[in-house]
Amino acid sequence: MRMITETYDAVIFDTIAVAENGWAIDILDQTFLPHDHVIKRLTNATEGGEAISAMRVRGAPLIGVTAAYTMALAMKENAGDKNLRCAAEILRNSRPTAVNLAWAVDQMLKLLLPLEPGVRCKAAYQRANEMAGKDIATNLAIGEHGLTILEKIKKKKKGECEPINVLTHCNAGALATVGWGTATAPIYLAHRRGINLHVWVDETRPRNQGASLTAWELSRNKVPHTVIADNVGGHLMQNGKVDVCITGSDRTTLNGDVANKIGTYLKALAAHDNGIPFFVALPSSTIDCKITDGVKGIPIEKRQSEEVAWISGKTESGKIERVCIVPEGTPVENYAFDVTPAKFITGLITERGITEASYAGLTALFPEYKRQ
Ligand code: MRU
Repeated sequence: MRMITETYDAVIFDTIAVAENGWAIDILDQTFLPHDHVIKRLTNATEGGEAISAMRVRGAPLIGVTAAYTMALAMKENAGDKNLRCAAEILRNSRPTAVNLAWAVDQMLKLLLPLEPGVRCKAAYQRANEMAGKDIATNLAIGEHGLTILEKIKKKKKGECEPINVLTHCNAGALATVGWGTATAPIYLAHRRGINLHVWVDETRPRNQGASLTAWELSRNKVPHTVIADNVGGHLMQNGKVDVCITGSDRTTLNGDVANKIGTYLKALAAHDNGIPFFVALPSSTIDCKITDGVKGIPIEKRQSEEVAWISGKTESGKIERVCIVPEGTPVENYAFDVTPAKFITGLITERGITEASYAGLTALFPEYKRQ
């Protein structure tokens, strides 16, 4: 591991990159944020898989790209069919809800299986690099489309100086992607183009991606924001303090249901009750054409109970420590995602435009997904 200095563009945090030796993969290890910036070098497929399952990298688009690079690492070790299929299977099961992971693995299998083992490694790195580059372009396109929503809200605001209040959940930011983020892309563009906005950041228990990651990247971009406890959003909405909610997606069914970080559903319900627009920003790689009912069909990742029972943070003396917050022996369950039904979603912001959360809406933008 090596420490890095902050030299990057603040919307592209070097979440993942090929190392200077041309084959190892360097990731920004997000388990150290917000207190330390640590780059971890991945040198084999086992380390790549561990980085995904331990959430050193996380966020649906980033785990897809990491899986692609991990397949490339596997091909460097042994480019035979058995190793290729084995790496694919291990990766596919490492985080079950974010469909980008399976999407990336399937793309790599489709590319590599027909090739001779001797050329697989080079082809794998090439495709992983393409996926990484495409992720940035996709998110920028999501940002441009999402910006139109914020511009419309701005026009309706009475006072010129009054900020637009955006509420977001978890981290669907630059850290969850190769660059720009999905939910944050419109926010960054609006901020850069002089629109006055303020972001309510849900802390997002149990892993606190909002408090630790979204707040970290918004502060680096000087976007005004406030971290709130997870249960505050409804109260803010009732009192006119939220203009719009924007979240990300880990899996989107063709009828517009969205799986995202646990707690997203409750925010959508509160937004619905208060007439506040609730948008989901997503790249098409999160669309799952096979599932029609998100609540019944989307597999929900369950993680170790320790993530709920223990929290870590910096003490006053500057030490990072973990503390237990439940009585010893208390049963704890840790559901990592929930599903927000399409009826509570105002619109989906994709790289091809904004559409209603429905089969008709999604297939109008993505006709290639139409059922035959
Ligand atoms: O468990 P995580 O941190 O991987 O969950 C991340 C989210 O839920 C994000 O909102 C989602 O992946 C969209 S990221 C652009």
